[in-house]
Amino acid sequence: MSFYNKVVIITGAGSGIGAATAIAFPKQAAKITIIDINEQDLNKTAEVCKTNNKDVLKIVADLTRDEDIKRIVDDTVAKYGKLDILINCAGIFTIASIETIELADKGVRVNSISPGPVKTNIYQYSGLSEKEINVLKDISVDCTPLGAVIEPEEIAEVVLFLSSEKAKSITGSDYLIDGGMLLKGLVSLR
Ligand SMILES: NC(=O)c1ccc[n+]([C@@H]2O[C@H](COP(=O)([O-])OP(=O)(O)OC[C@H]3O[C@@H](n4cnc5c(N)ncnc54)[C@H](O)[C@@H]3O)[C@@H](O)[C@H]2O)c1
Repeated sequence: MSFYNKVVIITGAGSGIGAATAIAFPKQAAKITIIDINEQDLNKTAEVCKTNNKDVLKIVADLTRDEDIKRIVDDTVAKYGKLDILINCAGIFTIASIETIELADKGVRVNSISPGPVKTNIYQYSGLSEKEINVLKDISVDCTPLGAVIEPEEIAEVVLFLSSEKAKSITGSDYLIDGGMLLKGLVSLR
């Protein structure tokens, strides 16, 4: 799956799913802009990304601020001359179904991923104690038929597929990657 000459913005790239996704794209020759509010974490991701492709633009930004969003797009287009793919892992934006249909007219595809329990820092930032986090992780495994917490790199693989030409007919879809957790819950309601 090559992303040669493709320009990709990845938000939330400092940690977890965003970091795994940011690291995956330069391995397929993509030029990337990575965004996070946490500069220290963003720097760590950038170092890893640069080992595969030097085209890494790093922007510390708060995605709740309109002026930061404008700066991200302006700086990306100024550096690379275009923008092909936007991956939002910071969980800030949503696009309504009607907008997805309108965007399809312009050749833009919009898809989402709904993850189950993924091994990231999300638990650490939750304010829970180490003990509570471990209990939560055990519960997550028990609730998941496939019996394992998901690695962020697994989510990144699906993001790459959805962003690629191989998924050229996929838009308006949501991909559930939860190890069967939802299914187990539905079956238990019967
Ligand atoms: N990890 C899971 O189990 C799980 C499950 C379901 C959904 N999700 C969703 O997936 C997304 C990514 O989750 P994760 O586990 O990788 O989280 P994470 O906490 O590991 O990473 C999120 C990153 O987004 C950055 N961020 C947060 N607010 C920001 C802002 N306003 N501006 C810029 N950057 C900001 C954080 O600094 C962090 O680096 C989130 O939307 C989360 O709700 C995660």
